[in-house]
Amino acid sequence: ISCSAEAKTVVIGLAADSGCGKSTFMRRLTSVFGGAAEPPKRGNPDSNTLISDTTTVICLDDYHSLDRTGRKEKGVTALDPRANDFDLMCEQVKALKEGVAVDKPIYNHVTGLLDPPELINPPKILVIEGLHPMFDARVRDLLDFSIYLDISNEVKFAWKIQRDMAERGHSLESIKASIEARKPDFDAYIDPQKQYADAVIEVLPTRLIPDDNEGKVLRVKLIMKEGLKHFSPVYLFDEGSTISWIPCGRKLTCSYPGIQFSYGPDTYYSNEVSVLEMDGQFDRLDELIYVESHLSNLSTKFYGEVTQQMLKHADFPGSNNGTGLFQTIIGLKIRDLYEQIVAERAAAAVEAAKV
Ligand code: ADP
Ligand code: G6P
Repeated sequence: ISCSAEAKTVVIGLAADSGCGKSTFMRRLTSVFGGAAEPPKRGNPDSNTLISDTTTVICLDDYHSLDRTGRKEKGVTALDPRANDFDLMCEQVKALKEGVAVDKPIYNHVTGLLDPPELINPPKILVIEGLHPMFDARVRDLLDFSIYLDISNEVKFAWKIQRDMAERGHSLESIKASIEARKPDFDAYIDPQKQYADAVIEVLPTRLIPDDNEGKVLRVKLIMKEGLKHFSPVYLFDEGSTISWIPCGRKLTCSYPGIQFSYGPDTYYSNEVSVLEMDGQFDRLDELIYVESHLSNLSTKFYGEVTQQMLKHADFPGSNNGTGLFQTIIGLKIRDLYEQIVAERAAAAVEAAKV
């Protein structure tokens, strides 16, 4: 199938392993678009789709071609491309991009079965989130912007323990075993997609505490591709320079281990990128305004919008560190990209009408 499309819908890809913060990121993103509107709703109780005024988020698990039993029988994991229907994914993402509604399957996470399909109408912005948004070249080519959430093994482990042990009663051994079991397929099929991402949020253990293995304090990098038409990277102080900044002083309250920012040019999978890094966490979220005032090219609509968004969702995981900050910034950048694309299409339509 050819997947080239005459675009009507802006399509965003968000890739990450499960349990790595995709839904939190989606909540921050839809909030940037949503303004005062209500929070996104599910299509139906078993649907994985989130629908708001502007944005529809579909979960790529819905394109599993093998259900839980089928995977078990064939001995493949959900991460294996053989358990996923990329032809259908390509066909349906293309249709939505061209403004055509589709009947999308639903993978039921409770039963592990494929439920009857649901009708998805073309939104203004379509987000495809899941394990493989950039795996298939045809689907990848449909994306107007792509993001990869790269959670290091140490941090993934810490988050999984927190969730599966504290909330679901799993044992430490079983959590370790399930991470180990996923690792070969993760390395083969999921991780390589980060080379295609326009922005990568990389989450690592802190360097501020020697030998930290708690995974509570994080070092987070925002890796932004240079030279894209509708996306220009955020910078700290001076575009293109290499900068290290410890803002803890008179203006920012920093208890141990403090906060350290870095910024500079780099290469990532042979692409030119800018990297902004934050190690450590905020003591007081309202003081983020001080950091915001030193960042440029944020695509905010007013001074303080980043801080306002972060304060609005202070209860989301990662709000006191670089994960929340960079997710918010990417949300603003996607809004900007969307507005640029819409403006270009309107200008093109005016030109076309003149002829
Ligand atoms: P996904 O949608 O990728 O499965 P979620 O956004 O639901 O991931 O997050 C899964 C869990 O991971 C959360 O409940 C939380 O425990 C942990 N988590 C996610 N993002 C962060 C973060 N930025 N900081 C700390 N923990 C996080
Ligand atoms: C979904 C998730 C996968 C997870 C799978 C469970 O597809 O995206 O990350 O592994 O469900 O599959 P299982 O075969 O264990 O039911």
